[in-house]
Amino acid sequence: MPPGVIRQNTAIQWPSHIARKQTTMSIAEKFVAMDYGPALEDPKEALLWLDGHKRRFGHFIGGEWREPAEGSFFDSSDPATGGQIASVAQGSAADIDAAVQAARAALPRWQSLKPHARARFLYAMAREVQKHSRRLAVLETIDNGKPIRESRDIDIPLVARHFYYHAGWAQLLESEFPEYSACGVVGQIIPWNFPLLMLAWKIAPALATGNTVVLKPAEFTPLTALAFADICQEIGLPAGVVNIVTGDGSTGEALVKHGGVDKIAFTGSTDVGRAIRSATAQSHKRLSLELGGKSPFVVFEDADLDSAVEGLVDGIWLNQGQVCCAGSRLLMQESIAETLTEKIRERMSKLRIGSPLDKSIDIGAIVAPVQLERIRRLVDQGVAEGATCWQPQVAMPARGLYFQPTLLSNVHPASTVAQQEIFGPVLAAMTFRTPAEAVELANNTVYGLAASVWSESVNVSLQVAAQIKAGVVWVNGTNMFDAACGFGGYRESGFGREGGREGLLEFLEPTWFKQALALPQARRHDTHSSKLNTNPDDPTPGHRSADRPIDRTVKLYIGGKQVRPDSGYSFEVRGLNGELLGEAPLGNRKDMRNAVEAARKASGWAKTTAHNRAQVLYYMAENLSLRRNEVTGRLAASVGKPQAKKEVEASIERIFTYAAWADKFDGAVHNPPSRTIAIAMNEPLGTVGIVCPIDAPLLGLLSLVLPVLAVGNTSVVVPSETYPIIAGDLYQVFDTSDLPGGAINLVTGHSSELLKTLAEHDDVGAIWCFSDASSAAAAKSFSVGNLKQVFTNEGRAIDWFDARQGEGRWFLQHATQVKNIWVPYGE
Ligand code: NAI
Repeated sequence: MPPGVIRQNTAIQWPSHIARKQTTMSIAEKFVAMDYGPALEDPKEALLWLDGHKRRFGHFIGGEWREPAEGSFFDSSDPATGGQIASVAQGSAADIDAAVQAARAALPRWQSLKPHARARFLYAMAREVQKHSRRLAVLETIDNGKPIRESRDIDIPLVARHFYYHAGWAQLLESEFPEYSACGVVGQIIPWNFPLLMLAWKIAPALATGNTVVLKPAEFTPLTALAFADICQEIGLPAGVVNIVTGDGSTGEALVKHGGVDKIAFTGSTDVGRAIRSATAQSHKRLSLELGGKSPFVVFEDADLDSAVEGLVDGIWLNQGQVCCAGSRLLMQESIAETLTEKIRERMSKLRIGSPLDKSIDIGAIVAPVQLERIRRLVDQGVAEGATCWQPQVAMPARGLYFQPTLLSNVHPASTVAQQEIFGPVLAAMTFRTPAEAVELANNTVYGLAASVWSESVNVSLQVAAQIKAGVVWVNGTNMFDAACGFGGYRESGFGREGGREGLLEFLEPTWFKQALALPQARRHDTHSSKLNTNPDDPTPGHRSADRPIDRTVKLYIGGKQVRPDSGYSFEVRGLNGELLGEAPLGNRKDMRNAVEAARKASGWAKTTAHNRAQVLYYMAENLSLRRNEVTGRLAASVGKPQAKKEVEASIERIFTYAAWADKFDGAVHNPPSRTIAIAMNEPLGTVGIVCPIDAPLLGLLSLVLPVLAVGNTSVVVPSETYPIIAGDLYQVFDTSDLPGGAINLVTGHSSELLKTLAEHDDVGAIWCFSDASSAAAAKSFSVGNLKQVFTNEGRAIDWFDARQGEGRWFLQHATQVKNIWVPYGE
């Protein structure tokens, strides 16, 4: 047998007592014992396909197989046997460059196709995946180590479903997204845990929306992506629309850094996600990140415990626990903890570990030695930190990369195994007493990818689901996925969604925005001097510029109160002709922190009804309307009379727009193909830090603050540096409109300094920065630490007076994150 051919029949060596038992038992005995014998999937078709490629793969670039520029290859091996499966090209920067060029060259033709033509290609992909499902399932299993039952019944059917679903969106693109255009060339980097499924999640929406793609699969599991390249050839996909470059992290890095890429979509570890955020900060690349998780699996005392235990089998032992949304933290109500633990142990003792190609096993092999080592290290650390480790006495294969299903109990919520993603078949168990405590524990993590809630009470389960900060919550279920239901994280689990309408938007941009011109670099430093006044309330001339008396001095607005800046300094604000208009306080880090604290305390705003929020906004419009003459008069000194008039009128209208939207930006209800509904809710992000545009000091500020406010966020706002004293007029409008203190906080000062504090603050959920290009880059760089969402104008000009550009869904979508709550029905 040539090297590299896998002897699946000998891959597993049963422990002698089992082997003996299997051969010596009579049929009657077997019937009573109900033991499973091995039932190996036939790998022949997959092996033939590998042989057809001589077990050696170059990159798939421009519709053809190409040798790697630097001529180097690495092995892809079977974690169950250690055997080499194939030799795969190691991508270099030159290979990435060739692939990006091919994708760029393919773009005009791909985009000139009618949506129906693109839909047909996606449909053909779905059909081919179904046709080759057995080959693909086996390839996935031998490359990754996952049980064939999973690749055959979960991964591959979901892959096909994804292409079908997106064939539909390709068909509907022009009618459903008439004002949007594709991003362009998309770089996609995927992990090894669901290799072909992650490819489908990335490629299907990108192609459906008219992008072309360079995809880099994970180095441990490149085979199904290469098989997909074959499918692209088989269906006659135009050359360069899909390019696949294999390699390790350095290949991914080259893709991320390539100047010809318009968007990066990444799934993988939070650390690499952070590196990618940092590497793309100085560019205008769009970015979506689907990162790690430490998802809670919450079981209440009224839950159907047997179902919950079966749920756990899927929740933490699916794919050996190498699942980003694995229910790796078991939170049990104290009253049932003992009973549930006993049931879990009993079930664990029945889990079968063995050759991934064996249809009767539950747990396969760990993907690579490094991952096995990581799991071992983390479990040891858990025990060293006080956890009790329990593993069932189950038969283990004699060789290959296996790890026993493991239960860690008495886990302290702050310990490493409760906080870090282990990515292995390891469950960390804790207890709680009340639903409130369950929510607190569930949210006690930097992640927010998924959660599973078990209770027979619809009130308890939905109340808890609503409070858990995660992109997906499964009620009385776990690990359910569907192409129609967006998947993605809160907090350090990343941003952006895959699947659903929201997933498509990750690959689209408003057409006007794509065409918008770059703004000149901020002229803020020309517009006011930075002379400081040590006492803003002191009218003595010695404290001010001598050229004219002060018209106006405003204060900061924090927690619904006007407050002095911590520094005691203010800065001069000058008008159109350089005349002194007044002074604005020079906010500093401390003021910013106070403002964030006030915004956090005003979180009740999110809980008010949408109707109430609409009412408050309507009052705001009314109150600005009452003051329109005085506000126009003052604003005129900064922007000239004609603009001031136009700005105030447009602002009143804009407030009406968002008062209208406040109770209409609803979510959706999906019907995934199972007896389940998925409720997609548009949830607020928390506190949004806003850096306002330089121009249109009033309209620009309101165009950003209002969508944020309308959907229940609170905000900390840095007004335009050209005319920050507009804040003085706004306090009065806010104060008289029943807006709760802290819902909007205004901190004037140098936006570049204030932006840093805002972006680095852990209690700020997102940054909206609409100044110049360098501020946009700074906002992204400062947000690397906690991976918050950043929404910017990329330094492009926005006409705030044009409703098509300055208001609407584009802003509302960025002010919310979709949470899908899956609720099963039926007996
Ligand atoms: P990883 O994040 O390093 O790899 C994911 C992908 O990113 C691979 O294709 C890899 O080649 C690529 N990559 C690595 N470094 C890169 C860089 N600097 N720039 C661009 N691309 C880069 O994940 P890894 O090392 O395979 O697993 C480590 C840990 O990450 C796991 O133990 C697990 O905790 C977590 N993980 C989480 C996943 C998720 O879906 N949330 C998936 C895979 C891993």
